[in-house]
Amino acid sequence: MALLETRGVTKTFGALQALGGVDLTVRAGTFHGLIGPNGSGKSTLLKALAGAHFPTTGSITFDGRDITTALPYERSRAGLSLKFQITAVLPELSVYDNVLLALQANRSMWSLVRSQSRQAMHSNIMKSLDQFRLSPRADDLAGELSHGEQQWLEIAMALAPKPRLLLLDEPTGGMSPEERRVTGELLLPIKAECALVIVEHDLDFIKHICDHLTVLDQGKVLDDGTVEEIENSKKVQEVYTSRV
Ligand SMILES: Nc1ncnc2c1ncn2[C@@H]1O[C@H](COP(=O)(O)OP(=O)(O)OP(=O)(O)O)[C@@H](O)[C@H]1O
Ligand SMILES: [Mg+2]
Repeated sequence: MALLETRGVTKTFGALQALGGVDLTVRAGTFHGLIGPNGSGKSTLLKALAGAHFPTTGSITFDGRDITTALPYERSRAGLSLKFQITAVLPELSVYDNVLLALQANRSMWSLVRSQSRQAMHSNIMKSLDQFRLSPRADDLAGELSHGEQQWLEIAMALAPKPRLLLLDEPTGGMSPEERRVTGELLLPIKAECALVIVEHDLDFIKHICDHLTVLDQGKVLDDGTVEEIENSKKVQEVYTSRV
Protein backbone atom coordinates (compact mmCIF):
# COMPACT_ATOMS: atom_id res chain seq x y z
CA MET A 1 0.00 0.00 0.00
CA ALA A 2 1.20 3.53 -0.79
CA LEU A 3 2.41 5.40 2.27
CA LEU A 4 3.12 8.57 0.34
CA GLU A 5 1.82 9.73 -3.01
CA THR A 6 2.41 12.87 -5.02
CA ARG A 7 0.29 13.64 -8.04
CA GLY A 8 1.24 16.27 -10.62
CA VAL A 9 3.44 18.24 -8.21
CA THR A 10 4.87 21.40 -9.75
CA LYS A 11 7.01 24.09 -8.15
CA THR A 12 7.97 27.36 -9.75
CA PHE A 13 10.41 29.94 -8.45
CA GLY A 14 9.66 33.12 -10.44
CA ALA A 15 10.16 32.14 -14.08
CA LEU A 16 11.95 28.89 -13.22
CA GLN A 17 10.03 25.63 -13.13
CA ALA A 18 11.92 23.42 -10.66
CA LEU A 19 9.29 20.63 -10.71
CA GLY A 20 7.19 19.97 -13.77
CA GLY A 21 4.44 17.59 -12.60
CA VAL A 22 5.91 14.82 -10.42
CA ASP A 23 4.02 11.60 -9.64
CA LEU A 24 5.77 9.63 -6.91
CA THR A 25 4.54 6.59 -4.99
CA VAL A 26 6.39 5.40 -1.91
CA ARG A 27 5.30 2.13 -0.34
CA ALA A 28 5.44 1.38 3.37
CA GLY A 29 8.48 -0.64 4.37
CA THR A 30 10.61 0.36 1.38
CA PHE A 31 13.72 2.44 0.88
CA HIS A 32 13.10 4.71 -2.08
CA GLY A 33 15.97 6.55 -3.76
CA LEU A 34 15.63 9.85 -5.62
CA ILE A 35 18.43 10.36 -8.08
CA GLY A 36 19.15 12.72 -10.95
CA PRO A 37 21.62 15.33 -12.17
CA ASN A 38 22.36 18.55 -10.26
CA GLY A 39 19.41 20.94 -10.34
CA SER A 40 16.94 18.23 -11.40
CA GLY A 41 14.60 19.08 -8.49
CA LYS A 42 15.42 16.40 -5.90
CA SER A 43 15.77 18.76 -2.93
CA THR A 44 12.80 20.83 -4.10
CA LEU A 45 10.66 17.68 -4.10
CA LEU A 46 11.89 16.60 -0.64
CA LYS A 47 11.13 20.06 0.73
CA ALA A 48 7.62 19.89 -0.73
CA LEU A 49 7.16 16.50 0.98
CA ALA A 50 8.38 17.92 4.30
CA GLY A 51 6.35 21.13 4.06
CA ALA A 52 9.40 23.40 3.94
CA HIS A 53 7.57 24.88 0.97
CA PHE A 54 4.28 24.10 -0.76
CA PRO A 55 3.84 22.86 -4.32
CA THR A 56 2.63 25.44 -6.81
CA THR A 57 0.09 22.87 -8.07
CA GLY A 58 -0.54 19.17 -7.48
CA SER A 59 -1.19 17.12 -4.37
CA ILE A 60 0.66 15.16 -1.70
CA THR A 61 -1.02 12.37 0.27
CA PHE A 62 0.51 10.70 3.32
CA ASP A 63 -1.15 7.61 4.75
CA GLY A 64 -4.36 8.43 2.89
CA ARG A 65 -4.50 12.01 4.17
CA ASP A 66 -4.03 15.09 1.96
CA ILE A 67 -1.03 16.97 3.38
CA THR A 68 -0.36 19.25 0.39
CA THR A 69 -0.59 22.39 2.52
CA ALA A 70 -0.06 20.87 5.99
CA LEU A 71 2.52 22.75 8.08
CA PRO A 72 5.85 21.02 8.83
CA TYR A 73 4.95 20.33 12.49
CA GLU A 74 1.62 18.76 11.40
CA ARG A 75 3.46 16.46 8.98
CA SER A 76 5.97 15.64 11.63
CA ARG A 77 3.20 14.65 14.06
CA ALA A 78 1.61 12.56 11.31
CA GLY A 79 4.89 10.57 11.10
CA LEU A 80 7.08 12.33 8.53
CA SER A 81 10.63 13.31 9.46
CA LEU A 82 13.27 15.21 7.49
CA LYS A 83 17.02 15.65 7.64
CA PHE A 84 18.23 18.39 5.32
CA GLN A 85 21.37 18.54 3.17
CA ILE A 86 22.97 20.92 5.70
CA THR A 87 23.89 19.67 9.17
CA ALA A 88 21.56 21.04 11.83
CA VAL A 89 22.81 19.66 15.16
CA LEU A 90 23.26 22.19 17.97
CA PRO A 91 27.06 22.15 18.46
CA GLU A 92 27.04 23.73 21.95
CA LEU A 93 24.72 21.06 23.35
CA SER A 94 25.74 17.53 24.28
CA VAL A 95 25.01 14.67 21.91
CA TYR A 96 22.46 13.41 24.47
CA ASP A 97 20.68 16.78 24.73
CA ASN A 98 20.41 17.07 20.94
CA VAL A 99 18.38 13.85 20.85
CA LEU A 100 16.37 14.93 23.92
CA LEU A 101 15.46 18.16 22.13
CA ALA A 102 14.48 16.30 18.97
CA LEU A 103 12.19 14.04 21.01
CA GLN A 104 10.54 16.94 22.82
CA ALA A 105 10.24 19.24 19.80
CA ASN A 106 7.92 16.80 18.09
CA ARG A 107 5.47 16.43 20.92
CA SER A 108 2.32 18.35 21.69
CA MET A 109 1.90 20.13 25.04
CA TRP A 110 -0.69 17.49 25.97
CA SER A 111 1.65 14.59 25.43
CA LEU A 112 4.38 16.44 27.37
CA VAL A 113 1.95 16.89 30.26
CA ARG A 114 1.18 13.17 30.19
CA SER A 115 4.87 12.68 29.63
CA GLN A 116 6.51 9.31 29.88
CA SER A 117 8.78 9.04 32.88
CA ARG A 118 12.29 10.46 32.81
CA GLN A 119 13.52 6.89 32.86
CA ALA A 120 11.52 5.95 29.72
CA MET A 121 12.74 9.10 27.95
CA HIS A 122 16.33 8.31 28.95
CA SER A 123 16.07 4.76 27.69
CA ASN A 124 14.63 6.00 24.33
CA ILE A 125 17.49 8.44 23.92
CA MET A 126 20.13 5.82 24.73
CA LYS A 127 18.49 3.37 22.30
CA SER A 128 18.65 6.00 19.53
CA LEU A 129 22.30 6.72 20.33
CA ASP A 130 23.16 3.01 20.47
CA GLN A 131 21.55 2.44 17.10
CA PHE A 132 23.95 4.98 15.56
CA ARG A 133 27.02 3.96 17.59
CA LEU A 134 26.98 7.24 19.49
CA SER A 135 26.35 6.14 23.07
CA PRO A 136 30.05 6.43 24.04
CA ARG A 137 29.85 10.08 22.91
CA ALA A 138 26.59 10.90 24.77
CA ASP A 139 28.18 13.50 27.07
CA ASP A 140 30.44 15.11 24.46
CA LEU A 141 29.42 18.34 22.76
CA ALA A 142 27.83 17.68 19.38
CA GLY A 143 30.30 20.16 17.89
CA GLU A 144 33.17 17.84 18.87
CA LEU A 145 31.88 14.98 16.72
CA SER A 146 33.42 14.24 13.33
CA HIS A 147 31.42 15.25 10.26
CA GLY A 148 30.24 11.65 9.74
CA GLU A 149 29.20 11.29 13.40
CA GLN A 150 27.26 14.57 13.20
CA GLN A 151 25.35 13.18 10.22
CA TRP A 152 24.55 10.02 12.20
CA LEU A 153 23.44 12.14 15.17
CA GLU A 154 21.11 14.04 12.90
CA ILE A 155 19.62 10.83 11.55
CA ALA A 156 19.22 9.56 15.13
CA MET A 157 17.45 12.84 15.96
CA ALA A 158 15.16 12.53 12.94
CA LEU A 159 14.30 8.95 13.95
CA ALA A 160 13.87 9.61 17.68
CA PRO A 161 10.16 10.49 17.41
CA LYS A 162 9.63 7.16 15.58
CA PRO A 163 8.43 8.48 12.22
CA ARG A 164 6.88 6.19 9.61
CA LEU A 165 8.72 7.92 6.78
CA LEU A 166 12.16 9.50 6.95
CA LEU A 167 13.36 11.94 4.29
CA LEU A 168 17.13 12.24 3.86
CA ASP A 169 18.85 14.69 1.53
CA GLU A 170 22.42 13.58 0.74
CA PRO A 171 23.25 12.16 4.18
CA THR A 172 26.63 10.87 2.99
CA GLY A 173 27.77 14.22 1.53
CA GLY A 174 31.36 14.89 2.68
CA MET A 175 31.78 11.41 4.22
CA SER A 176 34.74 9.11 3.71
CA PRO A 177 34.10 5.83 1.83
CA GLU A 178 34.25 3.97 5.16
CA GLU A 179 31.73 6.35 6.76
CA ARG A 180 29.41 5.82 3.77
CA ARG A 181 29.62 2.07 4.17
CA VAL A 182 28.81 2.34 7.87
CA THR A 183 25.91 4.72 7.12
CA GLY A 184 24.36 2.06 4.87
CA GLU A 185 24.84 -0.52 7.61
CA LEU A 186 23.20 1.76 10.18
CA LEU A 187 20.23 2.63 7.98
CA LEU A 188 19.21 -0.85 6.82
CA PRO A 189 17.83 -2.09 10.17
CA ILE A 190 15.36 0.82 10.41
CA LYS A 191 13.44 -0.58 7.41
CA ALA A 192 11.39 -2.78 9.74
CA GLU A 193 9.73 0.31 11.23
CA CYS A 194 10.25 3.20 8.87
CA ALA A 195 10.21 3.81 5.12
CA LEU A 196 12.85 6.08 3.60
CA VAL A 197 13.04 8.57 0.74
CA ILE A 198 16.69 9.34 0.18
CA VAL A 199 18.49 11.69 -2.23
CA GLU A 200 22.04 10.68 -3.05
CA HIS A 201 24.67 11.29 -5.68
CA ASP A 202 26.61 8.16 -4.72
CA LEU A 203 24.93 5.62 -6.96
CA ASP A 204 26.74 2.60 -5.49
CA PHE A 205 25.50 3.59 -2.03
CA ILE A 206 21.93 4.15 -3.17
CA LYS A 207 21.79 0.92 -5.20
CA HIS A 208 23.01 -0.98 -2.18
CA ILE A 209 20.34 0.22 0.25
CA CYS A 210 17.29 1.06 -1.91
CA ASP A 211 14.47 -1.17 -3.17
CA HIS A 212 13.06 1.34 -5.60
CA LEU A 213 14.46 4.32 -7.52
CA THR A 214 12.89 7.39 -9.10
CA VAL A 215 15.06 9.34 -11.52
CA LEU A 216 14.38 13.06 -11.92
CA ASP A 217 15.61 15.08 -14.84
CA GLN A 218 14.81 18.78 -15.30
CA GLY A 219 11.98 18.60 -12.75
CA LYS A 220 10.26 15.57 -14.30
CA VAL A 221 10.28 11.84 -13.63
CA LEU A 222 12.57 10.35 -16.26
CA ASP A 223 12.10 6.79 -15.03
CA ASP A 224 10.91 4.83 -12.01
CA GLY A 225 11.40 1.20 -11.01
CA THR A 226 13.39 -1.36 -9.08
CA VAL A 227 17.14 -0.87 -8.80
CA GLU A 228 17.61 -3.50 -11.51
CA GLU A 229 15.10 -1.84 -13.86
CA ILE A 230 16.78 1.53 -13.46
CA GLU A 231 20.24 0.04 -13.95
CA ASN A 232 19.04 -1.32 -17.28
CA SER A 233 17.11 1.79 -18.31
CA LYS A 234 18.40 3.21 -21.60
CA LYS A 235 16.84 6.66 -20.87
CA VAL A 236 18.66 6.85 -17.56
CA GLN A 237 21.97 5.69 -19.00
CA GLU A 238 21.73 8.41 -21.66
CA VAL A 239 21.15 11.18 -19.13
CA TYR A 240 23.89 9.90 -16.84
CA THR A 241 26.48 9.56 -19.58
CA SER A 242 25.62 12.89 -21.17
CA ARG A 243 25.06 15.12 -18.11
CA VAL A 244 26.39 13.70 -14.84
N1 LIG B 1 14.49 28.69 -3.23
C1 LIG B 1 14.76 28.69 -4.53
N2 LIG B 1 14.64 29.81 -5.26
C2 LIG B 1 14.91 29.82 -6.59
N3 LIG B 1 15.32 28.74 -7.30
C3 LIG B 1 15.45 27.59 -6.61
C4 LIG B 1 15.20 27.50 -5.21
N4 LIG B 1 15.43 26.22 -4.80
C5 LIG B 1 15.81 25.54 -5.90
N5 LIG B 1 15.84 26.36 -6.98
C6 LIG B 1 16.18 25.98 -8.36
O1 LIG B 1 15.38 24.84 -8.67
C7 LIG B 1 16.11 23.90 -9.45
C8 LIG B 1 16.12 22.56 -8.74
O2 LIG B 1 16.93 22.69 -7.57
P1 LIG B 1 17.12 21.53 -6.49
O3 LIG B 1 17.92 22.14 -5.38
O4 LIG B 1 15.82 20.95 -6.18
O5 LIG B 1 17.99 20.48 -7.32
P2 LIG B 1 18.71 19.16 -6.82
O6 LIG B 1 18.27 18.07 -7.74
O7 LIG B 1 18.50 18.98 -5.36
O8 LIG B 1 20.24 19.51 -7.13
P3 LIG B 1 21.58 19.05 -6.36
O9 LIG B 1 21.86 17.66 -6.85
O10 LIG B 1 22.60 20.03 -6.86
O11 LIG B 1 21.35 19.13 -4.87
C9 LIG B 1 17.50 24.50 -9.66
O12 LIG B 1 17.51 25.15 -10.89
C10 LIG B 1 17.62 25.49 -8.51
O13 LIG B 1 18.49 26.55 -8.84
MG1 LIG C 1 19.79 18.95 -3.68
